[in-house]
Amino acid sequence: MSNNIVLVGFMGTGKSTIGWQLSKRLNYKLIDTDQLIVKRCGRPIPQIFEEDGEAAFREIETAVLKDLLSCRGHIISTGGGIIGSEENRRFLRELGYVIWLCASPEEILDRTARNTNRPLLNNNDPEGTIRCLLEKRNPLYRQVSHLKINTDQLCFEEICMGITESASYHFSQQD
Ligand code: S3P
Repeated sequence: MSNNIVLVGFMGTGKSTIGWQLSKRLNYKLIDTDQLIVKRCGRPIPQIFEEDGEAAFREIETAVLKDLLSCRGHIISTGGGIIGSEENRRFLRELGYVIWLCASPEEILDRTARNTNRPLLNNNDPEGTIRCLLEKRNPLYRQVSHLKINTDQLCFEEICMGITESASYHFSQQD
């Protein structure tokens, strides 16, 4: 197993911010799968969804993830839907220690409300969409992750400290 720390979780659970803080704290390079997709396609995510559809986006997401399999010592932050395919879940586990960041639907709604960059929530019932997707995805986040952290009540400092300590314990058991 590779010693990357992989962050999975629903939109708005803090993966990007926590990824950035962890990379500073541990001096690990940060990789964000959404950013790699945008770079590869030369278009922002809403435009990819609109022009090519979600299925095409998911194919690129899998290709990007597969390309990361040789990475070592990185923080890898992922898009919320990456856990949808079995192949992706296998790649995520191969990549390293997988942390599931979760939050309540209310908190997610609040955190995503002002951002129009998420095509799946750009409709007239974002709350219903969040609840419905969470119901489908939570078992998959659970299945793929080594550790679950509820971000509702914790500050970034506490979350980063928990991840750092549990990851170093986890990696020490790998040798
Ligand atoms: C998605 C989450 C987004 C992005 C895309 C699809 C999803 O990433 O990959 O809009 O299906 O949950 P974030 O979780 O970083 O917002």
